[in-house]
Amino acid sequence: MKDKIQDLLKKKEIAKLGGGEEKIKDQHNKGKLSARERIELFVDEGTFEEIDMFVEHRAHDFGLDKMKILGDGVVTGFAKINGRPAALFSQDFTVFGGSLSETHAEKIIKIMNIAMKSGIPIIGLSDSGGARIQEGVNSLGGYADIFLLNTLASGVIPQISVILGPCAGGAVYSPAITDFIFMVRNSSYMFVTGPNVVKTVTHENVSFEDLGGAETHAVKSGVAHFIYNNEIETLLNVRRLLSYLPLNFMDKPVDVSFNAGDIFPDERLDVIIPDTPNKPYNMKEVINLLVDKQDFFEVHQNYAENIIVGFGRIGGMSLGIVANQPQVLAGVLDINASVKGARFVRFCDAFNIPLLVLVDVPGFLPGTEQEWNGIIRHGAKLLFAFCEATVPKVTVIIRKAYGGAYDVMNSKHIRGDFNFAWPSAEIAVMGPKGAVEIIFKKEIAKSENPETEIENKLEEYIKKFANPYIAAERGYIDDIILPRDTKSKLINVFHLLKTKVDKNPRKKHSNIPL
Ligand code: HXC
Repeated sequence: MKDKIQDLLKKKEIAKLGGGEEKIKDQHNKGKLSARERIELFVDEGTFEEIDMFVEHRAHDFGLDKMKILGDGVVTGFAKINGRPAALFSQDFTVFGGSLSETHAEKIIKIMNIAMKSGIPIIGLSDSGGARIQEGVNSLGGYADIFLLNTLASGVIPQISVILGPCAGGAVYSPAITDFIFMVRNSSYMFVTGPNVVKTVTHENVSFEDLGGAETHAVKSGVAHFIYNNEIETLLNVRRLLSYLPLNFMDKPVDVSFNAGDIFPDERLDVIIPDTPNKPYNMKEVINLLVDKQDFFEVHQNYAENIIVGFGRIGGMSLGIVANQPQVLAGVLDINASVKGARFVRFCDAFNIPLLVLVDVPGFLPGTEQEWNGIIRHGAKLLFAFCEATVPKVTVIIRKAYGGAYDVMNSKHIRGDFNFAWPSAEIAVMGPKGAVEIIFKKEIAKSENPETEIENKLEEYIKKFANPYIAAERGYIDDIILPRDTKSKLINVFHLLKTKVDKNPRKKHSNIPL
């Protein structure tokens, strides 16, 4: 028995080295960690339980039968993160560039099935050259099997992808189906085809960084939800994200303890809105004054910045926050902002995370660029997502709520549970200037002094519409509140809504305007 134990320990030591010490050194030289070092950093200390360490590929062509490595390029298992269970896989670039073989895929599928059955999140640490070229259709099939399982798991358990190296081909489509993508500046890349193929097909000269680096995907494409400067920071923030999420769609997010003494009228909120209606202010300041410990975890921080989405806690409760940002494009809703908001709302709804919506929106962005690219179709996504959501939904209109954007931003009409307004709210079909120029066009044209006529009509319009009282009169606003009392109101209503039950009609699935 002693020999057998020695033999087992030896095999495990060999497996732990993956592609070998030289290749691990290469990883380090590129500023990257090894697959196992990443796991160690990521999970609660000493909690990782590995499975399938002895799996080897079954391929023969191109001399592969003589190149077998225990584990076949991916480490899989389960662990605790913030004291709660999670499943994970970590691709090992030192083994055939982390490429996906038939057996590598089988390992990922096995751990995903365990995550699905146990109802726990799955986190993929990706560092892969895509389908293992030598295995042909077997590796393509392996990817397709993963895509199918990613799709079936969508909305059942949270799926998080952490991109920690060059990921190409199939290695990007699996993350694309998951809920959140993390990337690292200057060492992680995502593209369907790399710069060489791009050059051959389109004759474009483009670097790795420009084509599919972290900045590109965080700012331009919106593919990456979070980017950080190094792997350690990235992995710590994946842990942070998980702290806001439940384990699965039947679970609820964990409340953390909250000191009731921390709720007090916060007069800083009373003076945040500028006196001039068109003057911008930073909505993130409002959010930070509302969330516990000023701790707001923003998603898509650098993409479509005219809308803000992210997680925070109020009174210890985990919430998804959606807010217009008057500081960027006046907080207007355009295509990218609508899609960003819609995806976040649907994630929160799928995983029982209540929604807080802070509104200051002048409407949808006009213009040919937006119309020809489908603002109707894309704007409808945000509308659809809010309409469909059955989680607790609370809105605070901070300033402008104009036109269709008033309806879209979780109005009472689309099942907002509590809709509040600050006294600074302006709820109208459009802004005063545009409205006056349309409805008083003839009077202004006939007037001997059009400037004064416009001024008078503006005053009349503002008095009549640029306030929250008409909406409150009709019950579309439940209360007009003092900004300083917002946090205590929110704590009370979100507590009340903890037992909320709402349902959509029975159907196979909805047909969101994609
Ligand atoms: C087999 C691969 C591989 C692959 C890399 N390697 N990619 N082996 N299949 N797909 C191996 C290399 O041969 C090398 O082996 C080692 O991994 C490291 O690769 P390098 O090229 O030396 O590293 P680097 O310079 O950092 O470049 C990394 C890379 C590049 C950008 C990922 O290797 C690359 O472009 N690979 C191919 C990417 C790709 O086109 N994949 C197929 C996508 S199609 P040695 O032994 O020398 O260390 C696909 C289909 C799915 O995935 C479709 C779904 C829709």
